[in-house]
Amino acid sequence: MVREDRRLGLLKGQQSPDFHDVKPSLTEWRRVVSAVETSLPIYDSVSEKISLNKAERARELGVEYLELAMNGWVIDVGVGPGASTRMLLEKGFGSIVGLDPSITLLRHASSVFPKESFHPVLAVSEYLPFRRGSVDAVLTCFALRDVLDPDASLNESSRVVKKLGRFVVVDVGKPGNLLARFFVSLYIRLGMPIISSILSWRRVKGNPFRMIVPTYDRLVSNNVLEESTRRVFGNSKLQSIMFGGLIVLTAERT
Ligand SMILES: C[S@@+](CC[C@H](N)C(=O)[O-])C[C@H]1O[C@@H](n2cnc3c(N)ncnc32)[C@H](O)[C@@H]1O
Repeated sequence: MVREDRRLGLLKGQQSPDFHDVKPSLTEWRRVVSAVETSLPIYDSVSEKISLNKAERARELGVEYLELAMNGWVIDVGVGPGASTRMLLEKGFGSIVGLDPSITLLRHASSVFPKESFHPVLAVSEYLPFRRGSVDAVLTCFALRDVLDPDASLNESSRVVKKLGRFVVVDVGKPGNLLARFFVSLYIRLGMPIISSILSWRRVKGNPFRMIVPTYDRLVSNNVLEESTRRVFGNSKLQSIMFGGLIVLTAERT
């Protein structure tokens, strides 16, 4: 019998060329979550600015793809301060599960969104507490890069989404093209920390947005992520923004 490996949905024995040793330690992962908590008062404004005002457009593209699921259940995985949930609610989605391992962020989201539409769940994407095929869509914005185990998270999302249900990842991307990757990496490692330091100065402790750098370093290339998603969901489509520095990855469960 052929056994499926949980990593990237690969067959046992197969290895992805790019996905070695990319998992953070538990300590590093906690630091990332705690950095998002620290950034809470300024998260929405600063994250939009350091994306060069492209994050909102990327979220919009992701949410548009989910419109078919508007009357069903959508999980916003890694809901954080709630930017994507806010957009879902504005577009008319009425049953949203906001899932996050941070009680601080979930409390915040619960305090700003209506109780009848927003349902907070304290959990991690690697172990989604839902039945197989029980939700219409999963959306994960700027969060897959932060999780402990992206492979398990993809597998879990695919498990809980119903047949023909939809899946969207919006995130920072690592382009396959070496020139594009050079400029995106330069921005993430040098430009973004400088801009975010200026924008965070005296508003929160330190510069929590610096945590984007190690998560970017661990990130697989856009092609590898797309291939992994296709393997797990049966299909996938990648839209690149800013030469692949920002991606909207969509898939429908076959
Ligand atoms: C950078 S924030 C993104 C928040 C929001 N989705 C957005 O678009 O602005 C990443 C979020 O992922 C959450 N996260 C980290 N690890 C996770 C995991 N294993 N499962 C689910 N969420 C996780 C963090 O707590 C944080 O709220």
